[in-house]
Amino acid sequence: MNPDLRVQIEKYIESLFVRPDAVLAQNISDADAAGLPPIQVAPNQGKLLYLLTKMCGASRVLEIGTLGGYSTTWLARALLEGGMITSLELDQKHADVARKNVDRAGVGTRVTIHVGPAEQTLQRLIEQRVPTFDLIFIDADKPGYPSYLDLSLQLSRPGTVILADNLIRDGGVLDAAPQEENARAARAFNAMLAADPRLESIIIPVLGKKVDGMSISIVK
Ligand code: SAH
Ligand code: DHB
Ligand code: MG
Repeated sequence: MNPDLRVQIEKYIESLFVRPDAVLAQNISDADAAGLPPIQVAPNQGKLLYLLTKMCGASRVLEIGTLGGYSTTWLARALLEGGMITSLELDQKHADVARKNVDRAGVGTRVTIHVGPAEQTLQRLIEQRVPTFDLIFIDADKPGYPSYLDLSLQLSRPGTVILADNLIRDGGVLDAAPQEENARAARAFNAMLAADPRLESIIIPVLGKKVDGMSISIVK
């Protein structure tokens, strides 16, 4: 499919189902002004995260990879009354931008950001025996995904929904030995996910200038 057509389809769906949102637009422009990479989920994927969170009736969400808090805002808006999202971010600068963005969006009181390597934070949450999460969104460094999945499963219960972003990499994962590191990591992760006896899973394609994909899994 040609890239123009993919972008047109993506924009068509967005024009129907994603209302223009000044707070989310400012989230992206502030992240850009602060020098953060523009790698947040697309608006349609944000809406999908929002719907999945609502469908789960989630009140406890865990996000791995905050960036400027764009996906965080979509997830936080979908929480049940009194719900909380815990978001993990390596980079203090990203976390600072995200904090301002979620506060301005009016969801700041529902968002806790932990700064540091996600693997360490996850291990700490497990040691602290925090209550299990209803939905988990994995979207940090791609080589870390296998570990994030294993640790996430220790913070899950049967029925927990686990999502992971960027698993198609514009078709890079079709190559048996992808050149690009993120595609290589995604291909290995996809095979693990498919074989994982603790989960039932699928990947849905995400259209744009490049084609990517997000996995949706439910814990058995
Ligand atoms: N979920 C965001 C995008 C996240 S981009 C959105 O869609 O809006 C990936 C983020 O993961 C970046 O901010 C990066 O700094 C962070 N990251 C990279 N390595 C990490 C690690 N080891 N632990 C935690 N966060 C990490
Ligand atoms: C890229 C996109 C992402 O959504 C992400 O989390 C990391 C990297 C990218 O396109 O490079
Ligand atoms: Mg991503």
